Amino acid sequence: MPTAAHKKSKSSPRRRSEPELIFGDLWEFDPAPESADPKLQARYRLFIGGKFVAPKSGKYFPSFNPATAKPIAEIAMASPADVDAAYQAAAKAAPAWANLPGAERGKYLYRIARLLQDRAREFAVAETLDGGKPIKESRDFDVPVAAAHFFYHAGWADKLAYAFPGATPQPHGVVGQVIPWNFPLLMLAWKIAPAIATGNTVVLKPAETTSITALKFAEIVQEAGVPPGVINIVTGAGVTGAAVVNHPTAAKVAFTGSTDVGKLIMRSTAGTGKKLTLELGGKAANIVFEDAPLDQAVEGIVNGIFFNQGHVCCAGSRLLVQESIAEAVLKRLRNRVEVLRVGNPMDKNTDIGAINSKEQLDKIAGLVKAGQAEGAEMFQPKCKLPREGWFFKPTLFSGVEQSHRIVREEIFGPVLSILTFRTVSEAVEKANNTAYGLSAGVWTEKGSRILKMSTELKAGVIWANTYNKFDPTSPFGGYKESGFGREGGKQGLADYVKLT
Ligand code: NAI
Ligand code: MG
Repeated sequence: MPTAAHKKSKSSPRRRSEPELIFGDLWEFDPAPESADPKLQARYRLFIGGKFVAPKSGKYFPSFNPATAKPIAEIAMASPADVDAAYQAAAKAAPAWANLPGAERGKYLYRIARLLQDRAREFAVAETLDGGKPIKESRDFDVPVAAAHFFYHAGWADKLAYAFPGATPQPHGVVGQVIPWNFPLLMLAWKIAPAIATGNTVVLKPAETTSITALKFAEIVQEAGVPPGVINIVTGAGVTGAAVVNHPTAAKVAFTGSTDVGKLIMRSTAGTGKKLTLELGGKAANIVFEDAPLDQAVEGIVNGIFFNQGHVCCAGSRLLVQESIAEAVLKRLRNRVEVLRVGNPMDKNTDIGAINSKEQLDKIAGLVKAGQAEGAEMFQPKCKLPREGWFFKPTLFSGVEQSHRIVREEIFGPVLSILTFRTVSEAVEKANNTAYGLSAGVWTEKGSRILKMSTELKAGVIWANTYNKFDPTSPFGGYKESGFGREGGKQGLADYVKLT
């Protein structure tokens, strides 16, 4: 199953009134969110200085449900003047927030985490309606892991002196953050939780196709009583994003998205003194050795590429399989892909939901055409796609060469390119033959081989005999064109403080 495979407990769900939800309970509180009301508003305004405000231009743009291709809400288009208002609010709130004792700041993060859990069903449904991901993923992964990031960073808020012994960690001030559309709420949590735990205030822009859960999150910020201006959410597309990045008040900029936009941001922030972290694209190798347990490896390959329709920066999009087992793996993969359920993201049995946008669907289709034109062999299951909405069949390409576009470029869709290798060194060489370096997977029974691979693979995250596992304690980030800086763990925290 292409989920992050967090086991749900069979025990009865927790009730809202039960107070002691602890960290380990995060996975078991939400049995059937697909029936929950997402409580969507017809129109979403900006969240600035603790209030919802109309954009100065009066302009709104539609957000679509990718499964129907129909608009579900209108989102405010923030102009540079609105972004400026958000920075003013964030700058005003910054000194008091930075001076608040860490334990007090931590309380707000705990409250946010708890409120997210309380409204988890509603958030999961909203995330799926706005972004197209299967409900079982937003329910079991996106929302609980977002809450986990607030719990984790709440714990750091009063322990920063222990995180950085011998130094006096200080916040940067106001942080500008721009996030993508593949994990809207989770990327927001990755950005906002460490920033505010360390005493920064933020101006965050969600992606234009998936703004709704960020604005629902703003409701939680109000409900938690977070002081006005500590968290500001501005919505819009690239122009708004550029205004967030280039505002002179931003002391630090954190971006997750495409490598192309990451490069633009690097240029525009160069020489400004702004601290910058970039989490960009990937083209991860998922490497299967002949001694690997094949059934588990096939599940890991499927999860690695089809989780979230392959809209995952660390997706295992290049399968490297040892030649001696290549035929066997390919056969099992085809059988497995044949039974994946593609369709309505709100159906809890759906494995592959809708493609996030028409643009992304066109990009995927274009790269798949290129794969065929370059001579790779394509396999797609016989499944029928829904007539409405944006969908793409899970696709396997075998017989691919390292020079093919489908091996070199980030497709960000449910498309797997399969290569073979004979020796360990050939596997390492092929895995590292990419402009990216975000993640990798290794499947083998030999511990010594895992250790060797982990020192030789140029990737920020390496999974062994598993794939797409995330935890707030574990740093995430890339090498080369996958960006720099880390999110999660103490390393992620370090990017949000100045050490003096
Ligand atoms: P994108 O990089 O344009 O969008 C990401 C975010 O950046 C959005 O919030 C967007 O509004 C904002 N943005 C766009 N232009 C900006 C600018 N000049 N300054 C500041 N912010 C700006 O990604 P896009 O176009 O949605 O997707 C294109 C491709 O990028 C995908 O097919 C995929 O390959 C890759 N991508 C990778 C992601 C990752 O997590 N590594 C996430 C999203 C896209
Ligand atoms: Mg949408």
